[in-house]
Amino acid sequence: MDSKKEKFYITTAIPYMNSKLHLGFFYEAILADVCARFNRLLDKDVFFLTGSDEHGQKIEKSAQANNMTPKQYTDIMVHDMKRLLELFEISNNAFIRTSDEKHEKVVQNILLKLKDNGDLYKGHYEGWYCVPDETFFTDSQIVDGKCPECGREVEYIKEENYFFKLSKYQDAILEHIKKNPDFILPETRRNEVLGLIEQGLKDISFSRTTVKWGVPLGFDSKHVCYVWVDALTNYLSALGYTLEDETLYQKYWPADQHHIGKDILKFHTLIWPAILLSLGLPLPKQVIIHGWVMLGHEKLSKSKGITLDPDELSERYGVEPLRYFLMREISFGLDGSFTHDLFVRRFNSDLSNDIGNLLSRTMVMIEKYCDGIVPENKNINKAFKEKWEEVRNYCLESAGEVRFNDYISKISEFVNMANKYIEDSQPWNLAKSDDAGDKDKLNLILYTLIESIRLSSLMLSPIMPVASRKIHEQIGIELKGDEFDLSTMGEWGSFKGQTKLKEREILFPRIKEE
Ligand code: ME8
Repeated sequence: MDSKKEKFYITTAIPYMNSKLHLGFFYEAILADVCARFNRLLDKDVFFLTGSDEHGQKIEKSAQANNMTPKQYTDIMVHDMKRLLELFEISNNAFIRTSDEKHEKVVQNILLKLKDNGDLYKGHYEGWYCVPDETFFTDSQIVDGKCPECGREVEYIKEENYFFKLSKYQDAILEHIKKNPDFILPETRRNEVLGLIEQGLKDISFSRTTVKWGVPLGFDSKHVCYVWVDALTNYLSALGYTLEDETLYQKYWPADQHHIGKDILKFHTLIWPAILLSLGLPLPKQVIIHGWVMLGHEKLSKSKGITLDPDELSERYGVEPLRYFLMREISFGLDGSFTHDLFVRRFNSDLSNDIGNLLSRTMVMIEKYCDGIVPENKNINKAFKEKWEEVRNYCLESAGEVRFNDYISKISEFVNMANKYIEDSQPWNLAKSDDAGDKDKLNLILYTLIESIRLSSLMLSPIMPVASRKIHEQIGIELKGDEFDLSTMGEWGSFKGQTKLKEREILFPRIKEE
């Protein structure tokens, strides 16, 4: 932790540990990872959190179906989640489990504070409950006897609950959203939340008496905490809030970005802010809401067999091309499709053709015409320098707005400009000449090309960290430590001439189209 650096605290939702994760959650984790890595590129002190949601009925039922205790079951699921996070190169700094003793303590501390503030009161709940969504619904909300969100069966429950005074915070939340236009991104989701507030916020159950697998309320042993309150608390418990060592909390709260999917917007933009307001804590700076990853036009669904298995996909396509595809193909905030054909087309055109060819053609020419040594940067190529500055500024702006599809297309523009430059300047003709002026021209072209490759791969490093590192290595740059850094590496012309290229390696071999 470096106290001089600007801090950046970023989180994903913590997925339910009821079954193997599909590509949907990994889209979210990759998006957050790209934001985390981009902020490290800006030399910020990033704390990136993910974790596992382990309590509640849904998990209790899955464990039962597998003849295990919930703890035995979630231990296996968490192990698999951590393996997949590593496989997908998710660079989280911490992993929080809601079954951790420390987390449970924080949940109890928070509930006690809410009660002491007069925001929790005992009452009776009677209505519907959707176990897959772990959500309460009233009679008027359910549709044809089914859950209005997911269309699955709902249960009728009647029990004593503690209620949280959500209604009390309605005006304060509305004011916060109005005063902070970037609090909820994208704008369509912000409008959706404003619509929900307009309908009026009702107090909500914060405890259950008919569920056993949860955090017991410290002040009433008949009740366990409602799983959503337990889950939301992860963002604070991972920082040690209310525990003996609050260093991380002091350093990183409030969160800079919570990344979530559109189905859980209400919990993060209404209930979570209300809890924080009751606790007297600052609100997160942004809640960033993405759309669905679909298989073609179909929503992923285990029960209907519409799945995108992260192991199968990474084995077939490679992790970094998948990361690239998801970030390039899905417009932020909208749903996006994964299909084999779309993937192959994108891979072959962007990675294999544009970037891969630029790298190999340039390296071959430097090997052939300059014995594999990068020429000195004697004359600055003004057009490329200016274009790079435009690309860098655009990337800064689009990354700030989580528009990585636009971010990548801007880098593609730059890569294509370099490829076109090869065609237009025909370096192979200059190489045949004995004229000193032609030699200078050739050196300028080759330097321009290799510098364009270096800077493009630097900018792509949040998306494809391993490929970017390999590109740097091939062109003779030894990276110190783990990090790419835009302020020390991002100036046009900072690549040193006389660098010896290393061995060429094809990073993105073309996929045969079926
Ligand atoms: O909601 N495409 O967990 P979860 C994109 N435990 N994102 C998707 C997706 C898809 N097809 N399917 C799911 C929960 N997601 C709670 C969160 S946070 C305090 C508690 C996203 O396993 C989903 O929107 O159902 C959510 O952000 C995340 O994956 C975990 O979903």
